[in-house]
Amino acid sequence: MRRKLVAGNWKMHGNLVTNKQLLDEVINGLQGSRDADYAVCVPYPYLPSVKSSLQNSNIAWGAQNVSQHEKGAYTGEISASMLNDFECRYVIVGHSERRALYGESSLIVAEKYLAAQKSGIIPILCVGETLEQRESGVTERIIEEQLTAVINLSGVESLQKAVIAYEPVWAIGTGKTATPQQAQDVHTFIRSVISKLDSNTAKELIILYGGSVKANNAAELFVMPDIDGGLIGGASLVASDFVAICQAMQN
Ligand code: PGA
Repeated sequence: MRRKLVAGNWKMHGNLVTNKQLLDEVINGLQGSRDADYAVCVPYPYLPSVKSSLQNSNIAWGAQNVSQHEKGAYTGEISASMLNDFECRYVIVGHSERRALYGESSLIVAEKYLAAQKSGIIPILCVGETLEQRESGVTERIIEEQLTAVINLSGVESLQKAVIAYEPVWAIGTGKTATPQQAQDVHTFIRSVISKLDSNTAKELIILYGGSVKANNAAELFVMPDIDGGLIGGASLVASDFVAICQAMQN
């Protein structure tokens, strides 16, 4: 049985005061919930305070990016071992905003994934197509290319210690969610790509959907057989919405 996961991606939002309020409400709302795993991926400077808020809760924490390098002269970068110092369970790699705005190629993303795993951190590997790619019928090719970069570098078994998030770029922050069937189709495709190499890993692989998941559409997405949870952007900043989405996972 695949364990379900709902992870928030705060992106570049929040401050010490609002983070604390948000987490207090989320902790309260999810108290005693054990049916799924929950996490928030937060901006780097807040890791110490988020860790201290969450360490006795059922909510894990993580970061939104990591350097592919172990250490060295990389001004402004953060290594996986630094994330380890703050006991991050997860790190998002290859979010489409990183790929599009910071020029992260699939190879760089694969190196980040490897760096995270070497430090024992679970990478949440984001894959997804743009609207143009979907409309020109190359969604599967794009996703396979993004997956293959990681498999080539780390091997297919590495996915046993990773999470994949399918995030169609056209659905991120746009209020335009993929239909449950559209998401399910891509999730099935992802599983089939992996299955050709290693059917056990494919069966156990946790695949999240992300892109405008809200309290009012989470349940219909989460009920699909190959959707194992969500990566939640905007709605993870509103405690009641994030809690409602997490609860939709349990039902
Ligand atoms: P969204 O973002 O929920 O605001 O669409 C999802 C994401 O970027 O991970």
